[in-house]
This record gives sequence, structure tokens and C-alpha cells, in this order.
Amino acid sequence: MGHADPIVESQMAPYWMPFTANKEFKKEPRLIERAEGVYFYTPDGRRIIDASSGLFCVAAGHCRPEISEAVYEQLKTLDYTAPFLRSHTKAFELAGRVAEYTPEDLNRVFFVNSGSESVDTAMKMALMYHRVKGEPQRQIFISRERSYHGVNFGGLSLAGMVNNRRAFGLGLGGVYHMRHTLLPENKFTRGQPEHGAELADDLQRFCELYGGENIAAVFVEPTAGSFGCLPPPKGYLNRLREICDANGILLVFDEVICGWGRMGANFGAQAFGVTPDIMTMAKAITNGAQPMGAVVARQGIYDAITDAGPERGVEFFHGYTYSGHPAACAAGIAMMDIIAKERLVDKAAALAPAFADAMHALEEFDCVSDVRSIGLMAGIELKPEGAPGARGHAVQKALFDRGLHQKNTGDVLLIAPPLISTEEHIAEISDHLKAVLSTL
Ligand SMILES: Cc1ncc(COP(=O)(O)O)c(C=O)c1O
Repeated sequence: MGHADPIVESQMAPYWMPFTANKEFKKEPRLIERAEGVYFYTPDGRRIIDASSGLFCVAAGHCRPEISEAVYEQLKTLDYTAPFLRSHTKAFELAGRVAEYTPEDLNRVFFVNSGSESVDTAMKMALMYHRVKGEPQRQIFISRERSYHGVNFGGLSLAGMVNNRRAFGLGLGGVYHMRHTLLPENKFTRGQPEHGAELADDLQRFCELYGGENIAAVFVEPTAGSFGCLPPPKGYLNRLREICDANGILLVFDEVICGWGRMGANFGAQAFGVTPDIMTMAKAITNGAQPMGAVVARQGIYDAITDAGPERGVEFFHGYTYSGHPAACAAGIAMMDIIAKERLVDKAAALAPAFADAMHALEEFDCVSDVRSIGLMAGIELKPEGAPGARGHAVQKALFDRGLHQKNTGDVLLIAPPLISTEEHIAEISDHLKAVLSTL
């Protein structure tokens, strides 16, 4: 296979890269040319193991022909149709396929194009639901420190990561944050930590401070992903559910990372045995091959909003030009086929113990201050050296140069391999990590 001509610095100038050190990258680019299975390949032909599924997207491995061919066929047949007042059969088919995996009566599926859009859409659904139920005063949102809910203004206001907020003003008013659950006594825990369920009582305190009858919804990631893999303490999500029920508050799980098998179950909801009222998802729904997200609501939420609308008029004034895009739906349906045929979720659950063994073996390095893991996700936290995040940034570059891609957040290395990985792939990831950590 031929390689593209190398790109020079001046050709890189126009592209303003997201969440990237632009100046540094354009001086020392780390480009990917192609991908297959669990590997990326660079323009100079080096093989890089993908230890973060790209960005938690590529659960079924890269460049699955079933998905590429479905997208190609779709684009040849129906490239686009307006999603407002028009539709196409694949959007309905995919909604039904998604609802086979979501719990209980979460069976009404609204398509969006990203995780950020799914979060803002879920916020609007919550507001609208309370309005049609005669409680328009419910406008407060509760979320949590150290959470990530995307970058649009709704999700940014919910999110609890300072660097994503500090430059962008006040965000939405009426959003309050529970304390995070990263407790020192939970260090080096495999799976759900023992301590911290009582931190859910922060929600009770907000009910007492602001009036539970004024709170619209609580947003949490079942396991906080982007911040660095923080599985919920045992009993924590159950307690949130109880307080929500007692106060008429909707519970929203942001499953953008946790969904589609990452936790060793269909969604975080099933992994932790707690059913939310609304869940958001994106990323692996199309295996990352097409941009897509979805919000899945309990049927009662859909019914309440839809029944309250006029007989022949729009009920929910919200949607995107590319909601349920034909190519994304085709990719999603092909991904649902792969998930079912290859029993991807069971595969993830079966590999999880070996994965946890490999990740927790890194505890022996002096530079490692914590290791947290659940399903096929782990956070390896490094002791900071210099400015916060400087060491994590240097390590992610060194790992790439050695042959491993992963996403870091500050000084936490996030490892989340494709669900099709084998024990040999986990060993390869572990070898790269050990080689770089031993230099620190
Ligand atoms: C929990 C969660 N919510 C929302 C998002 C935002 O998704 P996107 O980048 O597709 O907008 C992410 C992205 O990582 C996420 O992890």
C-alpha cells in the first residue's frame, strides 16, 4: 500500500485542531494514515496499538467492512433526507435495535450527532417533561465534580473539569455540582470502590437547600470516564435513584463512554443495576465510523411530551439537520449486527479480569499513584512532575512513539481497548506501558 506524501508544517497551518497542543503538534505531528482491527498505521508504516479505541469509539475494531459497505450502499441509495417531517426506514430500524439493549421501558430514541448534543438534548427533554407535567419551576440541574458531559454550553455547565470551563464564562445558571467520588481510601480498587456511597447525599442536601421540587434532573456518568475512570462507589447510584424518586427528579445517565459494552454489560445502567429515566450515548453506537449520538427516554417521558402537543403540530421543538442521518443509521445498524453476532458485550466481560490483572500490575511502579479499573476501562494515575498534566502529556507522546495510542487526561492514562481485543493484545499494551513507565 502506497503512503501519502508527507505533510509539511506550512500545510498544517489552516487546521485548528480540537483539544490539541496546536503549536507543538504542527512541529512534531503524530499522524495516522490507516487502521485495521486493533491497530493504527502511521504514514511511515509504523504499527500502533489502539489502547483507547480511538476515543472510546471503536469497540468492534477499526475499518470493519460490514460497516464501510453499509455506509457506501446507503450513500449510493439515499444520501440525505430532511429529518424534520420526513424520514427513512433505517432511522426507525436503528431506534428499535438500540431499544433492545437499553433497560426496562427506556425505549424512545432521539438521534443526534455527538455526545455533546445528546447531553444538551437530554437537558431539554427534562425541562419539557416537567413543563408538560405542570411543574415548569423544575429548572435546576445537578451534576458532579470531575464529570465530563461534552463541550456545548449545556454539557459544559454540567461538567466538572476546570480546564474545560475556566475560559468560557459563567455557563448556564442553576447548575450545582455534587462532590466527586475519588477518595484516597479507594486507591488501587478493582471495580466498584467500597467507600463513598454517602456522597450521593449531596443530592439530598441540594433538595433541602433549593427545594427538591425545583430540580429538573441529575446528570451523572455511571463511571466517570474522561476524568480518569472513576467507577461509582458501591450503593452510590442506588442512593441517587432513591433520592430522585423521593423528590420527583429525573435521573440521567451519560453513557457516552460507558455504553455498548465498555463496562462489561450493555450499559452502565445494567452493569450497576440502576435504571435511569434518560440515557445519553454516542461513540460506539456506530463504532465511531459515522458521527452519531442518541438519547433514550422512558416511554412515559415520550408519551407525556407527545400527548401534550397538538394533534397535528410539532411536540418537541428540537432536532438537528443531521439527526438520524441515513449513513449514520446504516453504520449503526451494521454495528448492532456485529454486537449481536460477535457477542461483543460478553466478550468484553470475559476479557475484563485479565485486563484488570494487567493494569493493576502497574501499581508496582513508583511513578504510579493510583490504578482504577472496571470492565474494559482503566485509569492509571501518575504522580505529577512539574505542572499538573505535564508528565501525562509527555508519557502519551512517548507511548505513541513506541507504538501505543491512548488518551490521557492530565496525569491519568486512560486505557480502553477495543472489545474485540485478545489477551495477547492486552499483553502488548501492558508491555508498552511498562517500558515507558520504567523510564520515569
Ligand atoms: C460522558 C461523555 N459525555 C459527553 C461527551 C461528549 O461527546 P462528543 O465529544 O461526541 O461531543 C463525552 C466525550 O468523551 C463523554 O465522555
